[in-house]
Amino acid sequence: MSYFASRLFQDARVLVGVTGGIAAYKSCELIRFLVDAGSEVRVMMTESAGRFITPLTLETLSRNPVFSELFPDSEFSGTHHINLADWAQAVIVAPATANFIGKLVNGIADDFVTTTALALSCPLVVAPAMNSNMWQHFSVQRNVAQLKENDVLICEPEEGFLAEGYHGIGRLARLEYLLQYLYRALHPEPNSLAGKTVLITAGRTEEPLDPARILTNRSTGKMGFALAVEAFARGARVVLVHGPTHVIPPRVDRLVGVQTAQQMLEAVEKHFDQADVFLSAAAVADFRPASSRPDKIKKENSEMSLQLVSNPDILATMGERKKPRQRLVGFAVETRQGVQNARKKLEVKNLDLVVLNNPGEPGAGFAVDTNRVTLLGKAGERVELPLLSKLDVARAVFEVLLKGSTDLANE
Ligand code: C5P
Repeated sequence: MSYFASRLFQDARVLVGVTGGIAAYKSCELIRFLVDAGSEVRVMMTESAGRFITPLTLETLSRNPVFSELFPDSEFSGTHHINLADWAQAVIVAPATANFIGKLVNGIADDFVTTTALALSCPLVVAPAMNSNMWQHFSVQRNVAQLKENDVLICEPEEGFLAEGYHGIGRLARLEYLLQYLYRALHPEPNSLAGKTVLITAGRTEEPLDPARILTNRSTGKMGFALAVEAFARGARVVLVHGPTHVIPPRVDRLVGVQTAQQMLEAVEKHFDQADVFLSAAAVADFRPASSRPDKIKKENSEMSLQLVSNPDILATMGERKKPRQRLVGFAVETRQGVQNARKKLEVKNLDLVVLNNPGEPGAGFAVDTNRVTLLGKAGERVELPLLSKLDVARAVFEVLLKGSTDLANE
């Protein structure tokens, strides 16, 4: 999960709103993650949310009193909803009921949560969760469309098993998606890629040897997924081409799952011309078996040899096709003479930036949530980054690509 453990969550002031639905218990997981990530979390809940989950649970998890009454008999002043709205850097309402959404769209403020929501000046994420018929109701769909138009970030519900006992769309989006949207709400440069298309490859490829066996590597796609979350947070249209993995890919505009290097090349070729930036984070198999056998290879001898042929180099192919407006970013895994080899790659593959990582360093490389990299730019830039979460590495990659420097390097 935690390639998301970004510094943007550290010391962030996050207000979580909980409204009354069966998914209210899932807000616990979100609050837990945020507190662990170092955010300061305040919670507000509606009266009906209190029927599903107790304020004591949310108070304990958030380590702060929970707000639910407009006029509490306590030392709070009558403007405490405004104070809370002003305090927040980002707000997420999860789960958000049809009732809450309807009130927000129409400016109705009749409890603590709706009144505070109307007083916000920071980014707001709304994560609806409800019965599928309610979700598809024309009034809810119209209200959600209206919120989108007003720049509310809607983290749409998922399809699956509903509490009513049947399948449908309406389940609260999983934690990874909630965090993806909240990360966007907290991002310091949320429009820096507005109107741009970012194409990313992620994960490994699998090259079939016979019906049961494959040649592959250890990449899980986390670095490429982190780049996709970052591009999304900067307002880009994101096309993500990924190989097989157990990690949940982020929500993007176009998600293309592939298996082999050849399929990955075809998918990239299809989307490359529209892309303003292409980031090649996939660990593409350099070789594939010369032929994939129709029957399972038998254990007949004590030795066997495999004939391999080279796969297309997707990044180099795109380097040849690159137009002046396009930016290309490659990754280099080097165990010796890293900077020298990575610079060579930059030139040979016609790149603008190369991300050099040394898989020998603790916390860096395949299948972990962190990475330690050096960024090398075409104009000679060299930025050494400390050990960071993959999402923070992704933020630094775009910072250097967009303005040639990064604050993360100096921390
Ligand atoms: O040459 P090398 O494999 O070290 O280059 C790594 C970079 O090239 C990575 O960005 C990787 O995604 C890309 N690559 C590719 N197609 C290949 C091999 C590598 O796009 N067949």
